[in-house]
Order: sequence, then C-alpha cells, then structure tokens
Amino acid sequence: MKVIAFNGSPRKKKWNTITLLENALKGAESAGAKTELVQLYDLNYSGCISCFSCKKLDRKEDGVCAVKDDLTAVLNRVKEADALIIGSPVYYGTESAATRAFLERLCFPYFKYAKDMRSLFPRRINTAMIYTMGVTDEMLKQTGFSQVFDTTKMMLGIHFGACELLLSKDTLQYSDYDKFESEMFDKEAKYKRHADIFPQDCKRAFELGIRMASGKVPEPIPDFG
Ligand SMILES: Cc1cc2nc3c(=O)[nH]c(=O)nc-3n(C[C@H](O)[C@H](O)[C@H](O)COP(=O)(O)O)c2cc1C
Repeated sequence: MKVIAFNGSPRKKKWNTITLLENALKGAESAGAKTELVQLYDLNYSGCISCFSCKKLDRKEDGVCAVKDDLTAVLNRVKEADALIIGSPVYYGTESAATRAFLERLCFPYFKYAKDMRSLFPRRINTAMIYTMGVTDEMLKQTGFSQVFDTTKMMLGIHFGACELLLSKDTLQYSDYDKFESEMFDKEAKYKRHADIFPQDCKRAFELGIRMASGKVPEPIPDFG
C-alpha cells in the first residue's frame, strides 16, 4: 500500500497545509502504508500545454503526459500509488497555481474523450483534497469556493476514485500578526482558533490518512449537474 501526498503550498514546513498533510501521512503509516511526500514548490513544471499527445489515436501508451519536466517522474510514480492526498492553500478562491498545474497534468492524460468519460487509469484508488483557507465558516458560505472544491472532488473521483474533502478554515496566516498588515483580522481570535480548532483539523487529517490506506475505495457518484 503506497500513499503519496502532494504539498501545494509554497510554505514547505510547519505551516497549515504541510502540517495537515504530515498528519494524514502519519495516519496512513499507522495503518501500515508506505508514504511519500512531494513538495510541488520544489519542482519546475508547467500545467497542461494542450498538445493532445495523450489523445492521439496512435499513442503507444495510455495515461502518459508528453511534457517532460520535473513532474514526469512524479506522474510515473502515481501509476503505482494506492492513494493520493493533495493539499493546497486556497488562493483567490481556488487551488494555488502549482496545485492547479499539477492537477491538469495529473488528470488529463487519463481522461478518455468517450461518451461515458471513463478514466484510463487502470485501477480505482482513494483520493483526497485537503484545503486550508483564511475564510471563516460564515465567509465560506457567502463565497462560491465550495463549488470549486466540489469540481476538483468530482474530477479526481472520475479519474482515480472517490475523493474526500477536508477543509481547514480560518487558518493562522502569520505567527506574529503585529509584524504584518492584518487590520481586517481579529488576531486574538486567530491565535485562539489555531490553538483550539487546528489540532482538531490535524486529527481529522490523521483519520483521513487511515481511510486512504484502507484499500477500500467507495464508488464516486458522478454529478455533472
Ligand atoms: C496569494 C494568496 C491568496 C489567498 N487567497 C485566499 C482566498 O481567496 N480565500 C481564503 O480563504 N484564503 C486565502 N488566502 C489565505 C490562505 O489560503 C491561508 O492562509 C492558507 O491556510 C495558507 O496555507 P499555508 O499556511 O499552508 O501556506 C490567500 C493567501 C495568499 C498568500
């Protein structure tokens, strides 16, 4: 059982997204999985360049991206993975740029342009998206962010297998709010939430990791509506 996590935050140590990913991987390891962490911001790569090599009728192999860069070896390892956990901060209502580029390259080679949109990935595996964001619960309801999360969930579900979402909201952005512009935030509330609620998010991430390593993959229900 091999579980691969991808950190889509440029903050590679100790911050919100990586902390949740590390907890998820600890959960997976506690269930007996071998794990790997890929720091997307350590890699040089682009998003899909729309060359359509992966859609050529005379292609030699399915599910291969023709772009050769630092993602190539990573995408090869995905072929052997039993679960994928992708963590991203929310930037302007969607995934970070590195995460989006990664998702394009990860998914598109497996997308068969057939009527039933079936995946060319040969197995069903567990997937998860872990999002961290500054907005509060209430602000999240007012924004359209959830639609973005649901779209990514659906895409991973179609290409690989059922996707779990874990949302960590109202995160701590600075370790010292007095040193950065932060008038719009209630800094004491931020520190308190980080102390009280973030550890609960870490626990949820640990439990998610255990489920990812279970090998049981629920069938996603496609929702194109
Ligand atoms: C460029 C940028 C854009 C951001 N946009 C949003 C946003 O649209 N909504 C939101 O809730 N938080 C936003 N944030 C806050 C981050 O999502 C939040 O602090 C996140 O937890 C950071 O993750 P990290 O600590 O792993 O880097 C933004 C942060 C940055 C740097």
